[in-house]
Amino acid sequence: MPTTLITGASSGIGLELTKLFAASGDNVVLVARSEDKLNDLAANVRSQHDITATVIPADLSTPDAVDHLSDQLRDRSLEIDTLVNNAGFGMLGKFSEMSADRQTNMLMVNVVALTRLTRKLLPGMLKRKTGGVLNVGSIAAYQAGPNMAVYYASKAYVLSFTEALREEVAGSGLHITCLEPGATETGFGEDSGMGSLDMFASQTMTAEVVAKAGYQGYRSNEDIVIPGWKNRLMVTGTSFLPRFATRKMVGKMQGA
Ligand SMILES: NC(=O)c1ccc[n+]([C@@H]2O[C@H](COP(=O)([O-])OP(=O)(O)OC[C@H]3O[C@@H](n4cnc5c(N)ncnc54)[C@H](OP(=O)(O)O)[C@@H]3O)[C@@H](O)[C@H]2O)c1
Repeated sequence: MPTTLITGASSGIGLELTKLFAASGDNVVLVARSEDKLNDLAANVRSQHDITATVIPADLSTPDAVDHLSDQLRDRSLEIDTLVNNAGFGMLGKFSEMSADRQTNMLMVNVVALTRLTRKLLPGMLKRKTGGVLNVGSIAAYQAGPNMAVYYASKAYVLSFTEALREEVAGSGLHITCLEPGATETGFGEDSGMGSLDMFASQTMTAEVVAKAGYQGYRSNEDIVIPGWKNRLMVTGTSFLPRFATRKMVGKMQGA
């Protein structure tokens, strides 16, 4: 039975991805800070499928979180076939006025933990010639985001990193996919402050639909999955415009 580790499994897209991997027969390892939510989800998927579900609570913004997580995997003799780097958060506001600690935590979760966890788990996957990595980025990756500078830059990193990794392991049998959601109905909207923006509220998709697109894209080893035709149109349109125009447009929509 393959095992899939999902970060940010306690809610939203990560929770829906967990259900999909569990339904396919994968054992799951669930990671996030909210231990109670993870325990509820683990009990739920165990009761519905003939799989194991392991909960490892972790705050991925802390420097030793990934080492601690990998120690826990070793102690429980858990080999990870698929890594889903989904945990992440954003924050609307001017760079110079935002909490510097929260910005650093964002980079730790969205960028550093994603990178370190991949570095820890990829060699085993390469050795076994099976499994892969599904990273959750965002359509924010395709342009700069005034009033949300760190978040957009963190998601540009996720896309670039995932694409490069895919080329490095080409021919190994591993699947490497980047899921790039647009506005999605999860805790993200309220948590980031984006939920009240027209550009967000007017075109949200459900977490279930977004997760399904990402899951299927990963299984068929697509490089980049952008769920929803409006999101795909927006990304395509962006590629034809000069960067100064797209950043001005996004800045206006985000009240910069
Ligand atoms: N919703 C959108 O509109 C949207 C659009 C594009 C991309 N995305 C991306 O989709 C991914 C999932 O977000 P979502 O929309 O499903 O939002 P969500 O419902 O708020 O879920 C975020 C997940 O990340 C986890 N997380 C946050 N900080 C963490 C930390 N310090 N340590 C460990 N886990 C942490 C949360 O768990 P705990 O709070 O329990 O720790 C939660 O499970 C994120 O990477 C986000 O950037 C979302």
